[in-house]
This record gives sequence, C-alpha cells and structure tokens, in this order.
Amino acid sequence: MTCSGCGVVRDRERNDPATTGAVCAMMEAPAPSPAPESPMTADYLATGFPQVDASTRTADYTRCLDLLDSLPYFKTYKARSDVLLDLHAGPTVLEVGCGLGHDARRLADLVAPHGRVIGIDSSRRMLEEARARTAPATGLAFVQADARALPCASASVDRCRIDRCLQHIRQPERVIRELARVLRPGGRLLAYDNDWGTFTLSSSLREATDIIQARWANAFTNPWIGRDLPRDLLDAGFHAVLVEPSVSLIRDFALADRVYNLSETLARAVRDGAVTPATADAWRAEQALPSRTGGFLCSLTAYTVVGTK
Ligand SMILES: C[S@@+](CC[C@H](N)C(=O)[O-])C[C@H]1O[C@@H](n2cnc3c(N)ncnc32)[C@H](O)[C@@H]1O
Repeated sequence: MTCSGCGVVRDRERNDPATTGAVCAMMEAPAPSPAPESPMTADYLATGFPQVDASTRTADYTRCLDLLDSLPYFKTYKARSDVLLDLHAGPTVLEVGCGLGHDARRLADLVAPHGRVIGIDSSRRMLEEARARTAPATGLAFVQADARALPCASASVDRCRIDRCLQHIRQPERVIRELARVLRPGGRLLAYDNDWGTFTLSSSLREATDIIQARWANAFTNPWIGRDLPRDLLDAGFHAVLVEPSVSLIRDFALADRVYNLSETLARAVRDGAVTPATADAWRAEQALPSRTGGFLCSLTAYTVVGTK
C-alpha cells in the first residue's frame, strides 16, 4: 500500500514498522528492486558503498561518512545545497542514499514542524545506525529501498536530494528518472556528485601517482558522474538546470589517506604488479616529508546540479 500522505510504499518482506515510522500508514507492494551488486569488492571504499551490508567491515563505512561530514568543505557545500533547494517549513523531502542520516536530520529540522523527510538507502545497516541516531517524532522516516525503484507514489514529494550516491550506482540515469517521477510538477532535485577525472595528488613520482589516481578513480561505478549530471537531468525532463562546481582541497597527507584510501590503493597496485614494492616505498617516503611542511596537495572537483520538474 502507498501512504496517501507521503507516497512511501512499505517493503512487505521486511515487515519492519521502523522503516516507515510515523510517516506512513497505508502501504502497497513496492516495485521489484534491481539485482544486488556483486559482493566481490565489498571492503574498499571506492567499490563497497553499493553493498555495505555485504562487508565484513561496516565500521569502515560509518567512520568514513562521519569523517567526511565533520570536514569544513562538506559542511559548506551541504549548507549551500539547503539554500539551492529553497527549503521552507512544510515540504516533503526525499533524501536518497541517505547513509547515516546526517543530511536527513538537518533537512528535517529545516522543514519542521509541518514538513517531513524520508531518508532512503539500500543498506539495512546504514539505516539501523541512522535510526539509532535520530530522536523519535521528528517528522523523519528511514526506508530501505534501491534508488532505481523508489517505493514512492508518482508526483508525491516536493524536493529530492541525492549526495554522492550516483557515483556508486549502475544505471544512474534510471535513478534520475525515478526522482523525476516521484517529484511533483515544479518540484526540485538537487544532485551533488564527484568528477573523479579531476582527482589529483602531488608527487614527484608521476608514473606511480598516475597509477594511484587512476586506480582509485576508475574503481567507482561512475567516475565521471559529476560532469554527466547536467545532461542526465535534462534527459530526464528537468528544466532550469543550474550547475555549481566546488573543489575539495586537502593538504594533509594523513587526512587524504583516510578520505581516499591512498595507502590501500597503493598496496593493491603493488599486489597486482602495477607498482614495484621499491617504488611504493619511495612514494610513501616522499609523502611523509611534505606533509610535515604543508607541501602535499590533493584535490577533487564535484558538481552540485539542481533542476526543476
Ligand atoms: C557515499 S555514501 C553517501 C551517504 C550520504 N549521502 C552522505 O552524504 O553522507 C553512499 C550511500 O548510498 C547508498 N547506496 C548505494 N547504492 C544504493 C542504491 N542502489 N540505492 C540506494 N542507496 C544506495 C549507500 O548505502 C550509502 O549509504
């Protein structure tokens, strides 16, 4: 059954009232979800996010999202996304790929007391953690679903937000079409995502650095999704499409290593024979020096793209 209030459809198989909380009362069977991703690469941040529940190291994913959420760059673009979404008290907002619910909780505060926020994620474990961190009766519900088959009635929500989720999903254009379907005419979609083709690390060892950059970037399902977003929104029928780039700059190697799995990427390159152990040692040794003097640089361009249905 579909909730007449928010359009969310409950997953009968899970039969878990917590997925819908106080938001939904009437439900109908959801559309079938696409097949799950392969669990083969579940323990590497670039590849594991489509299948967090298959990982033996879920804490790595929650630690990663908490770390990112604490960084000033993330706070700035997320605050800007609230402005671009033109949020005001009252609307129904869908936060797709909500992870631990950092953004969903902020949005719920912004649209309170009459608005409501539905956080959607494919990971049961992410949603359990999101619920555990959320005070009851906040007009916020978390629902497990695949972004390509949203359990929402057509034209039932006012705003959709999707943040660094499309980089992980096959057929991202299908997600954007789904978001267009569930938005009311005049509703707004904000998508933020990375362009991994712009990922750069400073080093004098160019060959090894090229390999690390390329292996990390190309491990994502959609490494160029950031630059593809304007086209994808226009193809899905959105108009008044606005594009804002933003550059994340990290000058501390230890932090970049935590955010971008640099050491793990290098270790994998050595294991696969793409980089020799001696070159890997030299690369690490060099990074240890400039990080002490602020000489390290790691940058990435992402795009915030907003469209109106
Ligand atoms: C990089 S995290 C971003 C989380 C959150 N948007 C944030 O800014 O902290 C990507 C999220 O997308 C979810 N995800 C991956 N594939 C998905 C899919 N097909 N449908 C819904 N969520 C998905 C993951 O479980 C994860 O929580």
